[in-house]
Amino acid sequence: MYKIIHQEKIGENLGLLEIEAPQIANKAKAGQFVIVRIAEKGERIPLTIADFNKESGSITLIFQEVGRTTLRMGQMKKGDFLLDLVGPLGEPSEIENYGTVVCIGGGVGIAPIYPIARALKEVGNKVISIVGARCENLLFWVEKMQAVSDELLIATDDGSVGYKGFVTDVLKQVLSEKEIDRVWAIGPMVMMRSVADVTRPHQIKTIVSLNPIMVDGTGMCGACRVQVGEETKFACVDGPEFDGHLVDFELAMRRLVYYKDEEKRALAQEQCHGGGCGCH
Ligand code: NAD
Ligand code: FES
Repeated sequence: MYKIIHQEKIGENLGLLEIEAPQIANKAKAGQFVIVRIAEKGERIPLTIADFNKESGSITLIFQEVGRTTLRMGQMKKGDFLLDLVGPLGEPSEIENYGTVVCIGGGVGIAPIYPIARALKEVGNKVISIVGARCENLLFWVEKMQAVSDELLIATDDGSVGYKGFVTDVLKQVLSEKEIDRVWAIGPMVMMRSVADVTRPHQIKTIVSLNPIMVDGTGMCGACRVQVGEETKFACVDGPEFDGHLVDFELAMRRLVYYKDEEKRALAQEQCHGGGCGCH
């Protein structure tokens, strides 16, 4: 059991939990994730570690309240416990001094890009960060991103703050003005695909973090398989980060909605009577 030591609503349907998990905090590296389970028969959800602190022995998770489990997580309070937490899982980000890097976080993807931008800055990169959200209310951790970036650019779809448009519009502008050595992009699959399309003609290596459906998280079940170039990879052990220019995004997007009907039913049940009425 893992104790929640801080809980916060950081935006519309966006929850943050800081969890006491000293062993995970001690080993975690940028780019890794955990699998969370909150009930004995509940689903396992992979969440990238948004922050970790070896001194306080805690990790921070940020999630969108979109399904049955994440809705319940959004109702949890300080002092409550998560049933189990497995991690840190996955290969850490390849952190080196590349020169000038662009770190892009779209929507809830701002959470996992933060530790990567921080690690890249710590080893001497010039970090240009681009964060984007549909509107100002969905934007979070702007100050934290500012603190680990040499330059922070903001885009919102409705123009409520920063540039009016997508993160890719801002990226195009940056690429027209500066020499960029590497790009990292985390956010919705369509955003990561668009970022890869923008950087491909410039031949700038572009790393994306995939979040397919996962079950065991240890390379045994095959649920998280993705096509990267000619190879089939398991995101949980080979990733979650891959070369964005090689990822088959169409296939990954199709696989992501495999259980949409089941997810909808579970959500309807949760919203009906908190799942306890037995009417579904
Ligand atoms: P969103 O739909 O609000 O989009 C966030 C931003 O991404 C937009 O403001 C825009 O700047 C950009 N964007 C969206 N569509 C685009 C397009 N077609 N072209 C270019 N840019 C585009 O995002 P959300 O609702 O926060 O959704 C976040 C998604 O990210 C979820 O689906 C979640 O599964 C995924 N996610 C992935 C990871 C990961 O590790 N890969 C981590 C967290 C979240
Ligand atoms: Fe089972 Fe990756 S989640 S192989």
